[in-house]
Amino acid sequence: MKQIKVEGGHRLSGTITISGAKNGALALIPASILADEPVRISNIPNISDIDAINEILQYLGAKVSRKEDYMEIDASKIVNKEIPQSISTKLRASYYFMAALLGKYKKVEMFFPGGCSIGARPIDQTLKAFEILGAKVIEDHNKYTITADQLIGGNIYLDMPSVGATINAMLVAVKAEGSTIIQNAAKEPEIVSVATFLNNMGAKITGAGTSTIKIEGVTHLHGCFTEVIPDRIEAGTYLLAGALMGEQLTIQNMIPKHIESLINKLIEMGYSPIIKSDSITISALEHKKPVHIKTLGYPGFATDLQQPITVLLTQCQGESILEETLYENRFKHVPYLQKMGANIAIEGQKMIINGPSKLMGAEVEATDLRAGACMVLAALTAEGITTISSIEHVLRGYENIIEKLKSVGAKIELEEI
Ligand code: EPZ
Repeated sequence: MKQIKVEGGHRLSGTITISGAKNGALALIPASILADEPVRISNIPNISDIDAINEILQYLGAKVSRKEDYMEIDASKIVNKEIPQSISTKLRASYYFMAALLGKYKKVEMFFPGGCSIGARPIDQTLKAFEILGAKVIEDHNKYTITADQLIGGNIYLDMPSVGATINAMLVAVKAEGSTIIQNAAKEPEIVSVATFLNNMGAKITGAGTSTIKIEGVTHLHGCFTEVIPDRIEAGTYLLAGALMGEQLTIQNMIPKHIESLINKLIEMGYSPIIKSDSITISALEHKKPVHIKTLGYPGFATDLQQPITVLLTQCQGESILEETLYENRFKHVPYLQKMGANIAIEGQKMIINGPSKLMGAEVEATDLRAGACMVLAALTAEGITTISSIEHVLRGYENIIEKLKSVGAKIELEEI
């Protein structure tokens, strides 16, 4: 088991370089099996979720070579066999294989996916999309057997703009016969990235990044190259570290547009970040105005930044309100922030945060990935030593987090216990 020990209160200055997007790479890797020839993906982050998704690729018999941040995947000779529960539950993104295998072989057998425990996270919209495209879904004790005699394009209206369902619908529709329209599609940059990758393979997808995506099915997808986009949630997390403790902290190799909703909230609080085409520089601010935030699908405020920004709201002067609209159980960081001295009340899906509160070091836990990022930010801000347990959750999604924070002045160590 691993834990992180942080001595808080140190200023952060210098430059942090953002890695490839976890949630981008985790969709591109399963998508690669649709190609009949090798594909190459660069800017893959070195995080444990990538190891978990690679385990599925290798289990299916794909040839994978990974050097530095490159991966070459040759899925031309994979075997379409049941993906066991022991590996499908390691992460949420395992269910992109459900769609990619169905699209490629018209049959897939696998279990309900895993992922952070932040809510029920049903997959009904993905299954609905499969059925509209001609598949038959049988569920038995969490195991899904999905088959199709023929996959035929159709009109898919998603009940909510789900990232996973939008990507899964695209992965099946690219090889279905005829045209598919996905309406009320999610608009996240990771969706545009998957569509670009599939188009580079020869797919015909238009409209990705808007709420209506059109796909003309093709019979063959060829080899190609793509690059993972920068991780907007990692960038947002370090931007928040800069807002809390920065002295001219620069976050580089990022796309500011991808976190516009966060930047606007920082400006509302009174910050003046210096925004360039691929970097943002920010310094801490003594008096910050409280704000109201509601999580929404892109381009709204990202739910994945809701837990990290809670720390900053504890430092604003007055009452802030933070509403989580996507997940019913994404407040697990709150008791630990309260233990550190934060004044937070929970009312349904809203947090009422009264600040500023002096945060003091404590023993806390990373209950999930972004709760862990929140704990790291709180620890950097607090007076004294904070120990964060269950840090494996954080290492799933933040490449070299210890080294990156140390390089800008944080006193942070990873310990084996
Ligand atoms: C992706 O999850 C991300 N995961 C999540 O990142 C992120 O929080 C989420 O998108 C929203 O941005 C990956 O990309 C691997 P959704 P996903 O389908 O695709 C409901 C992180 O910390 N819904 O867009 O699973 C669902 O319950 C993580 O990196 C249904 O009801 O999210 C949620 O309330 C955690 N039925 C909302 O829609 C469905 O069939 C959005 O979920 C699908 C979703």
